[in-house]
Amino acid sequence: MRILVIGSGAREHAIVDSLLTSGEHEVVVSPGNAGIAQAVTCVEFGDVTDGDAVSQYALDNAIDLIVVGPEAPLIEGVADAPRERGIAVFGPSRAAAQLEGSKAFAKRIMAEAGVPTGRAVRAGTLAEARTAIVELGAPHVIKADGLAAGKGVIVTSDEQAAIAHAEHWLQHGSVLVEEFLSGEEVSLFFLSDGHDVVPLSPAQDYKRLLDGDEGPNTGGMGSYSPLPWLADRFGDERTFVRRVLDEVALPVVRQLESEGTPFIGLLYCGLIVDGDRINVIEFNARFGDPETQVVLPRLVTPLGELLFAAASGKLGDAAWPEFSERTAVSVVLASEGYPEAPIVGRPLGGLESALEVGGVHIDHAATAWSESRDVLVATGGRVLSVVAVGDGFADTRSRAYEAVSRIHFEGGQHRTDIAEKVAR
Ligand code: AMP
Ligand code: GLY
Repeated sequence: MRILVIGSGAREHAIVDSLLTSGEHEVVVSPGNAGIAQAVTCVEFGDVTDGDAVSQYALDNAIDLIVVGPEAPLIEGVADAPRERGIAVFGPSRAAAQLEGSKAFAKRIMAEAGVPTGRAVRAGTLAEARTAIVELGAPHVIKADGLAAGKGVIVTSDEQAAIAHAEHWLQHGSVLVEEFLSGEEVSLFFLSDGHDVVPLSPAQDYKRLLDGDEGPNTGGMGSYSPLPWLADRFGDERTFVRRVLDEVALPVVRQLESEGTPFIGLLYCGLIVDGDRINVIEFNARFGDPETQVVLPRLVTPLGELLFAAASGKLGDAAWPEFSERTAVSVVLASEGYPEAPIVGRPLGGLESALEVGGVHIDHAATAWSESRDVLVATGGRVLSVVAVGDGFADTRSRAYEAVSRIHFEGGQHRTDIAEKVAR
């Protein structure tokens, strides 16, 4: 197949690498980044949120499948025009992407579908928010209703901070005041063809900036997969995955189908697991970043065929994708100042040396070549995902960190405790 991948992050780099492993596909990426361009052709054809431009490119270049990586173009509706023109697209319509684009929409769908989630009150004014904050009690969870690039959520025991967060985000729309859920976070992805779903393998993301889950929320600072502790609670991973499929993913997909807005693409279930209780904290409408960087290297079933089956309504007969038993750990290297105000333009060195560590590869997130084309520079907040794949978390994790230690990047930030709890 000829596959067009839209996006420019480490997630898209991981998707591209996984698509290439079968050796059967030609992949182009728009816009891509310096790391992705080492593997495949990167093209620019204007605005990647413009469905007509994407359709035209796909038709002109005999593209068989479009895979949309990030949420912003999906929520803008980039999948709609090519799908209407008969091109296979992996990524939901504008209407179905509301599952990520509006937390209030997601809550309504969950209520209709009977999916377990925290109680939430929607507030449109500060007075309503205040009442809900007091009523639901501490710890407080306040969420901006719309997309907020990871900055819309606060979890705090400080009532004044909760009210201030609500006041800020009320300028941009309504907010949700949500019941606090305690437990372990799990990200579990499902491929959906609008009617049927198949699961990928669970991963855990580290959302806070600093070690020990301190500091502000980020897009994600590292991840690991699989989650060995799931077996202790559920007997085995498959039993857990089956429950999420039956209690969460399938009911949501069927609800969206019944409303005439079928969800075709990746349903990201962000879960809190407390004992053997499973609650949803959020949905995303695309692959997670940095979870994808640890899930896809373990995928044995060819990714291209799976995404094409989902995009063309043919998942019904598909078996669950197969995953290796290998362990994968990713550590994100971010710019100084991330997440508030990342300093960009600084050079990156030592990547060749990092890549000499066995089992290590690097997914580029925000990199470009300098004008003289001899220096790799950082162009954003999250810059690289350093990924190790191996046997056993202790060894895999130490390889990931050995590689990180070989990279030179002034002011670079990373967590030092990724996968520590499973490496003991
Ligand atoms: P979200 O954007 O909804 O994923 O929220 C960002 C992060 O805030 C999550 O990954 C959790 O760590 C935390 N969080 C969100 N909702 C809750 C909740 N109801 N209870 C506890 N923590 C939450
Ligand atoms: N890692 C969290 C996300 O992709 O939203």
